[in-house]
Amino acid sequence: MNGFEIIDKLERLKKAELSEYAFLVSNINEEIAEYAREKAVAAQKRVYGNKIFARGLIEISNICKNDCLYCGIRRSNKACERYRLTEPEILACCEEGERLGFKTFVLQGGEDGFFSDEVLSKLVKEIKKRHSGCAVTLSLGERSRESYELLKKAGADRYLLRHETADKAHYEKLHPKEMSFKNRIKCLETLKELGYQAGCGFMVGAPYQTPETLAKDLKFIEEFSPDMCGIGPFIPHKDTPFADRSAGTLKMTCFLLSVIRLIKPNILLPATTALGTIHPKGREMGILAGANVVMPNLSPLSVRKKYELYNGKICTGEESAECKICLEKRMEQIGYEIVADRGDIVK
Ligand code: SAM
Ligand code: FES
Repeated sequence: MNGFEIIDKLERLKKAELSEYAFLVSNINEEIAEYAREKAVAAQKRVYGNKIFARGLIEISNICKNDCLYCGIRRSNKACERYRLTEPEILACCEEGERLGFKTFVLQGGEDGFFSDEVLSKLVKEIKKRHSGCAVTLSLGERSRESYELLKKAGADRYLLRHETADKAHYEKLHPKEMSFKNRIKCLETLKELGYQAGCGFMVGAPYQTPETLAKDLKFIEEFSPDMCGIGPFIPHKDTPFADRSAGTLKMTCFLLSVIRLIKPNILLPATTALGTIHPKGREMGILAGANVVMPNLSPLSVRKKYELYNGKICTGEESAECKICLEKRMEQIGYEIVADRGDIVK
């Protein structure tokens, strides 16, 4: 089968062989990317029309016990100025978010021990009490089953935990010994079992990534069938062991967004900040490749720069309201509309 035939097959069957996925990513060219893009956009429009969902992102802490080799907030990075938002600060971000029309808040952060089950449950309950129509998404890394269960009971609706790579050997090249691929995947399965809307994802162009590891990522998405999938380019951070690596490309990220949309037409797929960082029109191009979610930053201005996973991150100097207006305009310019909606997956 050639690339066009594999795209046709994906559109029809929503699955492909590992070797076909690997073939696609090794043989990407302008024509195939455009062919996949058109089909992906058509699939997205059939499910979501021209609506784009917005999630208000609150970066609650950059303190992390982990040491992922690619990440700017890894514990070994002594140059990182650490911060942790207080409960009143987080609640104030949600307040501002609701005022701006957001119906989903994403609480993201490093694996910071301060956020125990007790502290987080209390926080999630308070957010849900104050903003009853809103969805709460957590993106706080690996926790125990009991913890995920408690947080679900407290009212959390969704959980984002990128699988990072579906290849064990690759996972081990990106993470220190104490982190395990098996546990990462187990966490994702647990989240799904507990009834969360679960999201996985990976970095495009991560060090040591190959067409074979990418093929496994696509297979994993096909089989795990997540509700959400966060993919964005890897971007080096100067104070990490991968400082000298090159960033993932716009072309490959957009192509993979299209392929993922074809595998799962109803998936919630963000055009990430990282994509907007590698190209001034990256987020627009992500939407035009099949993404349907944007995540404007609601974090207080004082901490934006400190949550630096990679260098050059955009939106660190803009107020929440500015980011919202900016994204609305950007979406409007390409014929889409941001809706004030919880933005649940259409099943
Ligand atoms: N601690 C939580 C976790 O591990 O899921 C959430 C925060 S973590 C910083 C969020 C995501 O940022 C990671 O899953 C990773 O894919 C992404 N990330 C980290 N370093 C990055 C880099 N240098 N370039 C692009 N994305 C990066
Ligand atoms: Fe933040 Fe454009 S989205 S300034």
